[in-house]
Amino acid sequence: MNAALHVLNMQEVERIIRVDHAGELGAINIYRMQIFVARILYKDIVHTLEDMLSHEVTHFNTFNNLLTKRGIRHCHALKLWAFGGATLGFVTALCGRNAIWVCTNSIETTVLHHLDWQLDYLAKHDPEAHEAVLSIKADEEEHQELGQSNGINSPIYKPIFYVVRKSTELAIWLSTKL
Ligand SMILES: [Fe+2]
Ligand SMILES: [Fe+2]
Repeated sequence: MNAALHVLNMQEVERIIRVDHAGELGAINIYRMQIFVARILYKDIVHTLEDMLSHEVTHFNTFNNLLTKRGIRHCHALKLWAFGGATLGFVTALCGRNAIWVCTNSIETTVLHHLDWQLDYLAKHDPEAHEAVLSIKADEEEHQELGQSNGINSPIYKPIFYVVRKSTELAIWLSTKL
């Protein structure tokens, strides 16, 4: 393969791992905040949220290990992801239990769309990174399914779905630049 093309491909692979690493940190902070509020207001869903949080911690470690192993820097906006995730988690949880599920559904719908693109790319360029991304996909699908089955499908929640989706897209885009 052309050496210059190879360098470009490896830069793209690094970007993918970095974005996913940052995204998992965002997810961890969303769930931590939602759990914090749910412990007071919606005790019955705490266990499910804790389950999802434990998945996100595993996902974060998967990408963190890969970054460390390859000596790739993490996203410069890591603190922003953590703060943004915590804010999103807190605000959605205060909007009600249904907003928590709409938030999950919205994020995972956006994320899964990106994962499919990433998997397609990595299948051609990096088997190890492909395996890492593939290892989180089933969990994210399960989260999306939980968001859809637990959330009430009412037009009132459409704005929340839209805002969360746009914030997720913006955060993903920003992470490819920072
Ligand atoms: Fe995740
Ligand atoms: Fe997830």
